[in-house]
Amino acid sequence: MKEYIKALFVHDSIEQGAIDMSLEKSELFQTKAFINGQWLNATNKDTFPVYNPYDKSLIAEVADLDISDCELAIEAAFGAQKTWKLRPAKERASLLMRLYDLMIEHKSDLAQLLTLEQGKVLKEAQGEIIYGANYIKWFAEEALRINGKIIPALSKNHEIRVYHEPVGVVTAITPWNFPNAMIARKMAPALAAGCSFVVKPSEETPLSALAIAKLVKEAGFPDGLFNVVTGTNSEVIGDALILPKEVAKFTFTGSTSVGKKLQAKCALGMKRSSMELGGNAPFIVFEDADIPKVIAGTMISKFRNAGQTCVCSNRFLVHESIEDAFKDALLVAMKSLKSGNGLTDCMSLGPMINQQTVHKVEGLIQSAIEAGARLVYQADKVGNEFVPPTLIDQVTADMAISTTEIFGPVVAIQTFTDEAEAIRLANDTPFGLAAYFYTHDATRIHRVSRDLEYGIIGVNEGSISNEMAPFGGVKESGQGREGSSDGILDYVDVKYICQNFA
Ligand code: SIN
Repeated sequence: MKEYIKALFVHDSIEQGAIDMSLEKSELFQTKAFINGQWLNATNKDTFPVYNPYDKSLIAEVADLDISDCELAIEAAFGAQKTWKLRPAKERASLLMRLYDLMIEHKSDLAQLLTLEQGKVLKEAQGEIIYGANYIKWFAEEALRINGKIIPALSKNHEIRVYHEPVGVVTAITPWNFPNAMIARKMAPALAAGCSFVVKPSEETPLSALAIAKLVKEAGFPDGLFNVVTGTNSEVIGDALILPKEVAKFTFTGSTSVGKKLQAKCALGMKRSSMELGGNAPFIVFEDADIPKVIAGTMISKFRNAGQTCVCSNRFLVHESIEDAFKDALLVAMKSLKSGNGLTDCMSLGPMINQQTVHKVEGLIQSAIEAGARLVYQADKVGNEFVPPTLIDQVTADMAISTTEIFGPVVAIQTFTDEAEAIRLANDTPFGLAAYFYTHDATRIHRVSRDLEYGIIGVNEGSISNEMAPFGGVKESGQGREGSSDGILDYVDVKYICQNFA
């Protein structure tokens, strides 16, 4: 039965803040790191604060690890992987299925924790838990299909066999915008393939990662297979997760600038890496687009997580003949958005993750207006932690708002006159993660899909993320794919055996 907890979180006799939270399973709230199946403080007893982005109240003090703690995690993962890789695929799959079941069983608690530390509205947090859990189920199923092959050989006395072997220890750094799903979609293929896993979650949102660890333990995975290292010293922890010889592969979701630095560290040991980096998604509205569909796509692709996703549409490229119709319909939809505490019912947008993000997004709006863009609409600001939904037009390609990943709830409209110009504008960026376009012309759909230089394209669709599809970018948006049957390939090495059996 659901018991209401006035949670008073105490950690080594330090009172961590009193918050109202209704968790059915209070043990999902953990503040120590999870290493080798144990909950550990930092060796030096350091902790760091985690705040609710809605009101800046203290939620928890979490273990702030240093390099020696991370070394323990790598050592544990290295040991655990040796036996895990030998477990039959069916056993790996059934443990992952057990974890999936636990995530679904506790989805309401996991969503509350997620909203508390990240800010997104509860219904989106619930969606994220299901989204994350779906990756676990998908890769539980894929574990059974990591097939090798036999290739026709050069002579009747030879056989060429190809194996897909787990790469080994996988380490990860994950972002604050999807504190559950970004871990789930990296750990699930790693464990399915026979790898072990060490993750450093963002210091803004470590609680969701620790809640996953609690469920991993409950599901019965061997100690050391899944580890969570929490901390604020990103540089030191980054080195500890990438440089050791025991680490085979590193996977990162975050900004392109940080991704480039981490990739350079991977190069030192020729480590495999997957990089899911920044985007600058164009959202193209052709003259024959169906306006109600365009608005539905705009609302999901722009305002999900208050605009804080790497696939959020960033540049609205609208055919000049349809601009007024688009803006009129969009204004109606935008005026229905409500910003506020994500834990409260009926909210559509939560706060920005921190003040730095608020200032960045407000600065981009301001500089666009100073450079000649026009403010068409801005909702009331409901607090310092929020950026109100904003619509600006007369934007040009050279403005910072067009060249920067906004990561906030701002629709910035540029117009174009023909398809060639739309494609040129859309591709005029170093990024290549997601793109969207709306048209009903079948030949144009093929042409534009071909010509857009992006890893993911939504055609008359603004919602493109799911576990069955290969998620990832081209150009400076990174490399590797997450989800789909392609996703497992990032976690296996190809080994070829040439056997002479004469
Ligand atoms: C991201 O913003 O990094 C991921 C977004 C998604 O999975 O849809």
